[in-house]
Amino acid sequence: MAKLRSVKGMNDILPADIGRWHRLEAAFRHRAERYGYAEVRTPVLEPTELFVRGIGEVTDIVEKEMYTFEDKGGKMLTLRPEGTASCVRAWLQHSVGGSEPVTKWYYVGPMYRRERPAKGRYRQFFQAGCEVYGDPGPYVDAELVDMVVGFLRELGVEDVEVLVNSLGSGDTRARYRDALVAHLAPMRGRLSEDSRRRLETNPLRVLDSKAPEDQEAAASAPTILDYLDDADRAHFEGFQETLRALGTPFRVEPRLVRGLDYYTRTLFEVVGRGGDLGAQSTLLGGGRYDKMIGDLGGPSTPAIGFAMGIERILLCMGEGPAERALDVFVIAEPGVRGAATVLARDLRDAGLRAEADLRGNSLKSQFRRADKSGAPVALVLGQREIEAGTVQLKVLAEGTQESVARDGIVPAVRAALG
Ligand code: HAM
Repeated sequence: MAKLRSVKGMNDILPADIGRWHRLEAAFRHRAERYGYAEVRTPVLEPTELFVRGIGEVTDIVEKEMYTFEDKGGKMLTLRPEGTASCVRAWLQHSVGGSEPVTKWYYVGPMYRRERPAKGRYRQFFQAGCEVYGDPGPYVDAELVDMVVGFLRELGVEDVEVLVNSLGSGDTRARYRDALVAHLAPMRGRLSEDSRRRLETNPLRVLDSKAPEDQEAAASAPTILDYLDDADRAHFEGFQETLRALGTPFRVEPRLVRGLDYYTRTLFEVVGRGGDLGAQSTLLGGGRYDKMIGDLGGPSTPAIGFAMGIERILLCMGEGPAERALDVFVIAEPGVRGAATVLARDLRDAGLRAEADLRGNSLKSQFRRADKSGAPVALVLGQREIEAGTVQLKVLAEGTQESVARDGIVPAVRAALG
């Protein structure tokens, strides 16, 4: 029979690796909560229409990357490819905007895109993200970027570059789109097949293409910054000034467009330069999407957010201090395993991380397991100890052993752990 394996591009995260995930997630939660964000959890399955309307029909995600299927009741459902549209759906569904003028949410969870798997690019991957509803910026835009750069610094990810751009609002994009098409149309024959198609459907995406022939054509294209109106320009400048005041270095990249259709005005990405990232160097991306809530049927409400790829950050995060998994290992003669079970439970109730080998193996093999477990202390229980109301306490690294009264075992273990 063929061996069963996980779905291609979807990875197991084994206990040996989970410490780093916990460290990253805890740092993210603490930071987001210090900034006034509250956690939201939305379903991984949503109606397909949410993503088609929210993300945009002519995007790579909607065109070719979604896991979509018809359920037994004939409904079209999709495994969420990102969190932004789901958050907006939840915010509207529960009328959250009616009870608070500004909403700040964060989320951590798996997302699904059927991309070609590579290092840093998976079909199930985890994002941590934030979304803000009701604040038109530009101060909160800069605050978000500064918050996430501070978060990366806390994890030791410092070799990064912050790229910013503005896509303008209102008819800026339409005017720029016309100018871009006018520039690219004469070079049509030199563009990649994808870009030729996008020239009709979504020409801004040509700027995003990795194909050298497209990059060459894009290099001489006009930039969107020349098409901003006064209000968009003031917004973009306010964003940059606030970043400067916060001391967050950034670079204006006028060709930054990103793969999602919903952005307006502020756009940003943080790109990693160190670590083990390979080609997938974009650690996170985000921006303002002031039209999405209205487009999905809600009241016109400004919105901004970002999401980071957790796996990509782990690829450039330092190891950090190794965490001790166990404090104490209980070793028991086969005849006293019941008493050992009680002893281990009492240690855990006192807050210690305790493991007991309850299979009835030889003391020698139990000592071997205790040594391998990383627990600094072993407690040894035999018939003699039960009768005397004691336990043998062994500090494994030093090989010292003493007899301790059963009643006083918790403080004795704590003292031995230092
Ligand atoms: P995105 O740029 O599509 O934006 O994804 C954000 C981040 O998720 C990327 O920068 C990358 O680190 C990670 N990521 C994306 N696809 C993969 C993949 N296949 N494998 C591993 N990591 C991946 C969004 O998703 C927007 N919802 C961000 C946002 C929030 N904009 C406003 N609010």
